Amino acid sequence: MSPKVSLTRYLVEKQHVDGRIPPELRLLLEVVARACKSISHAVNKGALGGVLGSAHSENVQGEVQKKLDIIANEVLIEANEWGGHLAAMASEEMDGIYVVPNRYPQGEYLLLFDPLDGSSNIDVNVSIGTIFSVLKKPDDAGQGVSEQDFLQAGSRQVAAGYCIYGPQTTLVLTVGDGVVMFTLDREQGSFVLTEEDVRIPEDTKEFAINMSNMRHWAAPVRRYIDECLAGREGPRGKDFNMRWIASMVADVHRILTRGGVFLYPWDKREPDKPGKLRLLYEANPMGWLIEQAGGAATDGKQRILDIAPAKLHQRVSVILGSRNEVERVTGYHRD
Ligand code: AHG
Ligand code: MN
Ligand code: MN
Repeated sequence: MSPKVSLTRYLVEKQHVDGRIPPELRLLLEVVARACKSISHAVNKGALGGVLGSAHSENVQGEVQKKLDIIANEVLIEANEWGGHLAAMASEEMDGIYVVPNRYPQGEYLLLFDPLDGSSNIDVNVSIGTIFSVLKKPDDAGQGVSEQDFLQAGSRQVAAGYCIYGPQTTLVLTVGDGVVMFTLDREQGSFVLTEEDVRIPEDTKEFAINMSNMRHWAAPVRRYIDECLAGREGPRGKDFNMRWIASMVADVHRILTRGGVFLYPWDKREPDKPGKLRLLYEANPMGWLIEQAGGAATDGKQRILDIAPAKLHQRVSVILGSRNEVERVTGYHRD
């Protein structure tokens, strides 16, 4: 039997054998994984650990924070601030950026995260996760670090991934040469490589969208879903299945595993809001993972990874998954 490959070994080989990642990025990814392990333990304890329920506070986006949103945010900051690999961090749960304090060594990387994705699923024991994206401080940024340094297109990410806390805890990662998955071995306390070269089928018969917003959708989205719902007798000539978990990590994980298309489009509820999901720490990392697995990700008009961000908590319309379906929906927007 071939030996198990731990995340540590995988990253060391990426550094030494492939020369793909510098040592500071390897350290960064190990630290993020360690933080995710710790969040996974807190999630598993649930009511026994007193981690369920609301924190009775609001984040900058006006969403009520859950206790675990705050715990996960703190775990990620505490794990990452002292190692010398980072210049600053940004999170869904913090108004501005978090600059590494002066008492610690400063690095070149910027870490962005959604500490706890799928907050509405925490208390009902449904899969949730942590999403992260890694950028490099721009070369012309000079001394210090500012919010402006974070406003880079997704195509400039140097690593991205998520950790899903479900029946298994799985860490999914890309450093730009495909997508790999690691399953947490709880007895050993380490992530073990369980899936390499993840590929998404180009076609699918499964879509994911929150149907309760149907009356608010724009015409191209309505057309696409209507055609799926028409099934075998409709223009698509086949029956479609639907899934909506309301944790982006869980919906994306399903798509990476068996294909599918995910939509959280702009809708008419709040016309000035480009969408619900956030570009920098939700759409960009997920968009890159999906592309690295052979899928596609757009906002209906352009590739997600080409969008030039204007602000830290910018929202965006998201259509991602099996390539041919994403191209179809994007084509309907062009029509
Ligand atoms: P978060 O919990 O980080 O705020 O993100 C929730 C997101 C995403 O995970 C999911 O796809 C979507 O919100 C669900 O939204 P609805 O409740 O509108 O379906
Ligand atoms: Mn989220
Ligand atoms: Mn979140």
